[in-house]
Amino acid sequence: TGAETHSMWHYWTYFAKGVGYTIGISFVALIVGALLGALLAFVRLGSITWLKTLANAYVAFVRGTPLMVQVMFIYFGLGMFYNISAIVAGTLAVGLNSAAYVSEIFRGGIEAIAPGQSEAARSLGLSQKDTMRYVVFPQALTAIWPALGNEFISLIKETSIVSIIGVADLIYQLRIVQADTYRGVLPITIAMVLYFIMTYSLSKVLKHFEKKMHHANA
Ligand code: ARG
Repeated sequence: TGAETHSMWHYWTYFAKGVGYTIGISFVALIVGALLGALLAFVRLGSITWLKTLANAYVAFVRGTPLMVQVMFIYFGLGMFYNISAIVAGTLAVGLNSAAYVSEIFRGGIEAIAPGQSEAARSLGLSQKDTMRYVVFPQALTAIWPALGNEFISLIKETSIVSIIGVADLIYQLRIVQADTYRGVLPITIAMVLYFIMTYSLSKVLKHFEKKMHHANA
């Protein structure tokens, strides 16, 4: 088996490229998800009824359908009208999916800030908007940081779905290596270990920042 393992080294650029795509897509999708998710959360906590209904429906629908179908829907659906590349469609789909999950994280974070905080701020003369902006939101952000980190970790794993529309992520690369080497399990094992290295080291980095933040707030 020494020779087989050796032959895998020959394909390291494939795996490296796959890891690059997987991290890149996850990161961009996380940014999209965080921005849109925050917006959704504010709408859902706000007072404009029809917008709330729309945002709630979006979250329910996205969470109630498989990411795999959403990826295909965005790619082939938008593809009917625009010449959209698989990488853009895949990243967009994962980002739109993440937004629904992130909006729940934000909503929980904002609701977790004691109501006395905003009452105090309001009685000191801050407007509703400024209360949210300077009192509630900064605290909520600290509170939800770990959950946002977990979402990033989830996305690293969940992006594996985009391989079905031909995005050159880690799963896609492992298939190429399988076809090229006639090795079934070894490329899978390598990809699995690489996924674990990504998620595990990310969790360590996040833990580090989490500790730092707690010290800063103490
Ligand atoms: N795999 C599940 C699905 O297909 C969960 C997706 C989780 N997405 C997320 N952004 N955390 O729906």
